[in-house]
Amino acid sequence: MAIFLTGATGYIGSYVASGILEEYPKARLGLLVRASSPAEAEKRLWKSMQMHLDFERFIDLVRSRCDIYLGDLTSPSLGLDDEAQKRLIKSTDSFLHIAASLNRKSSKACFNVNLRGTLSLVKLAQAAHADHGLRRFTDISTVAVAGHRKDEIVTEEGTIDWDRSDYDPYARTKKFCEHMVHELLPDVDIRVCRPSTVLGDSRFPETTQFDMVRAFVMLARMPVLPLRPEWRMDIVPANYVSRGIIAAHMRDKPKYSAYNLSSGAGSLTYREIVDGMEAAGIGMRHIFAPRLEGPFARTVDALMGTPRKWGASLPASLMKVFLPYLTNNTVFDNSRIVEELGDTPRPFTDYGFPLFRFASEGNFTYPYKPWPGAVSPRQVA
Ligand SMILES: NC(=O)c1ccc[n+]([C@@H]2O[C@H](COP(=O)([O-])OP(=O)(O)OC[C@H]3O[C@@H](n4cnc5c(N)ncnc54)[C@H](OP(=O)(O)O)[C@@H]3O)[C@@H](O)[C@H]2O)c1
Repeated sequence: MAIFLTGATGYIGSYVASGILEEYPKARLGLLVRASSPAEAEKRLWKSMQMHLDFERFIDLVRSRCDIYLGDLTSPSLGLDDEAQKRLIKSTDSFLHIAASLNRKSSKACFNVNLRGTLSLVKLAQAAHADHGLRRFTDISTVAVAGHRKDEIVTEEGTIDWDRSDYDPYARTKKFCEHMVHELLPDVDIRVCRPSTVLGDSRFPETTQFDMVRAFVMLARMPVLPLRPEWRMDIVPANYVSRGIIAAHMRDKPKYSAYNLSSGAGSLTYREIVDGMEAAGIGMRHIFAPRLEGPFARTVDALMGTPRKWGASLPASLMKVFLPYLTNNTVFDNSRIVEELGDTPRPFTDYGFPLFRFASEGNFTYPYKPWPGAVSPRQVA
């Protein structure tokens, strides 16, 4: 039997897929990949997983233990024909749903991928459960489902509050996904993982995801910060997040039904982050000016409308969507995942500076290795 996993071509999904393949030699994965052919799908998986596996290991693991399903969350039945659906239903004993649209500015993308996509996946999960019983359905959500907060430590139990407004369509649709999974799979063992702001890896400087890194580099380059020095920001490295997801999905009896994958009370203050950056020789001396939050937000709005070639509109757009999360001084209690994993995530100042250097010196790109010409990619999914 296999784990049907969505999002393997993405940042967190690549950690989780390669982590399960490495750590659980008996595990088999069914991977939903957006591609027009098995060859293209395999190339896309190589691109996402090469930060974790060398090519020989990748080919060995993916060819011996992964079934590829060419499909799309936004197509009816994920775009799978009858035969592929039947195969998926018969061979899947758990679902690990990581794929999502993180496009906070597009209600349409969030609605289609997160809501319609999750509904299609849940219908397949219902069919598999009716056929032979599912071991588990794990939904990768986000702490953003907690909605508007200010100066709080949020626990898993206190996260969903339907009377609260949400920051953006991403948070709103992810919140409803959690609800949908619980409502439509009442007899299935459901686990929910809610990462906070995932930034880099505490073991090495490389990343393939740059949006939040870009926003942080922008902040590091600003002499005046529209933040209070004592505010805390909940940042967690991707390697800790993926360990949490793998534990929640793979362990026989994880202790809790929902986990914040976060730094919680160990989250650093902006003062600690800035002092750490100065000590590492990154950024400049900063002045904290929380009263400038309003003017700063208006400047960001204005910069978003500038011509793309000036280079300010993209970082300004990113800042626009992340600003509410930077200024809410809210962290997410992580005692459950610390109990489950037995350790805490490394603080951002331990590993953030090599990450900044890698990102800014590489112009926010990862130096992807091409598919080796001598190896022909797979012809059959
Ligand atoms: N990164 C964070 O800071 C963070 C924080 C909290 C929670 N999360 C959650 O973690 C999960 C993974 O996030 P991430 O940062 O890894 O995002 P990501 O790098 O953008 O990856 C998103 C994944 O979803 C897939 N996907 C998107 N639209 C799809 C569609 N229509 N059909 C099939 N697959 C589709 C993407 O496939 P393609 O490669 O084909 O686009 C990709 O594999 C999400 O559920 C997100 O809500 C992330």
